[in-house]
Amino acid sequence: MPSPPTPLPQAGEGRTPTGSDTLPVCSPLPPGGRGAGGEGTPSAANVMSPSFSPLPPGGRGAGGEGNAPPTFPISVKPPMPTDTRNLPAWPYPRTIAHRGAGKLAPENTLAAMRHGASFGYRMFEFDVKLSGDGRAVLLHDATLDRTTSGRGRADALTLAELVSLDAGSWHGPAFAGEPVPTLAAVARYLRANDLHANIEIKPVPGAEARTGAAVALDALSLWADASVPPLLSSFSQEALAAARRVAPALPRALLLDKLPPDWLDRLRQLDCVALDVNHRELDENVVKKAHESGFRVACYTVNDPERAAQLLAWGVDGVITDLVDRIPPVPADGN
Ligand code: G3P
Ligand code: MG
Repeated sequence: MPSPPTPLPQAGEGRTPTGSDTLPVCSPLPPGGRGAGGEGTPSAANVMSPSFSPLPPGGRGAGGEGNAPPTFPISVKPPMPTDTRNLPAWPYPRTIAHRGAGKLAPENTLAAMRHGASFGYRMFEFDVKLSGDGRAVLLHDATLDRTTSGRGRADALTLAELVSLDAGSWHGPAFAGEPVPTLAAVARYLRANDLHANIEIKPVPGAEARTGAAVALDALSLWADASVPPLLSSFSQEALAAARRVAPALPRALLLDKLPPDWLDRLRQLDCVALDVNHRELDENVVKKAHESGFRVACYTVNDPERAAQLLAWGVDGVITDLVDRIPPVPADGN
């Protein structure tokens, strides 16, 4: 059982900015994919036309009978502006759904990922911490109150107790009964559907190294024979160091809310493949500097389509967004 409770940060303390509410809203795809025939996986052509319109005419809705395709008030050229061949591999889509489907479904649940996937998103960021008995589960806050039917510290409950909680009703009755998922369940879903994972290691305070090591070991076995590994990220350098110790081959990204003067040294010390920073800290020069120094760049949480377009045009490798219904998914660059 966990050590005595220590003070925790406020739940939902809000690193995530909210986006504009004035833009058009897309409707999700039916189960089985886009367009007539349920052809499933979106192609580069239908998610990234030169004008960045997200779908072909009649795109969403089975048989094209449904909603008119949305328009986006942006026009970007997603191809990378710089040569990335000497950078670490980045086999990931350039857009990543935050916590599954942003705010459209209960965060960090399988329902959210299914919802995000219905908009064509193929990579999901989610937050992982340990239960009281040391098992990896998806949960953002250190406490259960905001997003589940439970109360108090997440690590005060065993895995069996956590997975019996309702992690959907807080969002709305349509999601009532949605469980807190295990990392194993999420891995099964993502791998079965050829989707990618950005596992944010989010330890409860005091459990940084233990969480980093346990989550990385789990990731190593759950994605053992996968062609694309999950991307590990964390604000905790201690957690990332522990992850590197047990699973050095898994790619790591250092999360930073502010960009300190020594950010490049920190990335080097942890053998990271990427900087993963609050997008407000980014400008074109930082992206260029990271790339020239051998690091990819991801950023969070981009909830404005025009800002997403700007970041992609600068060559940001991964844009994490809540707006899966308003920012069209952009596939991997190919390097
Ligand atoms: O991983 C990027 C982003 O999720 C970090 O902030 O608070 O939403 O986990 P937060
Ligand atoms: Mg997160």
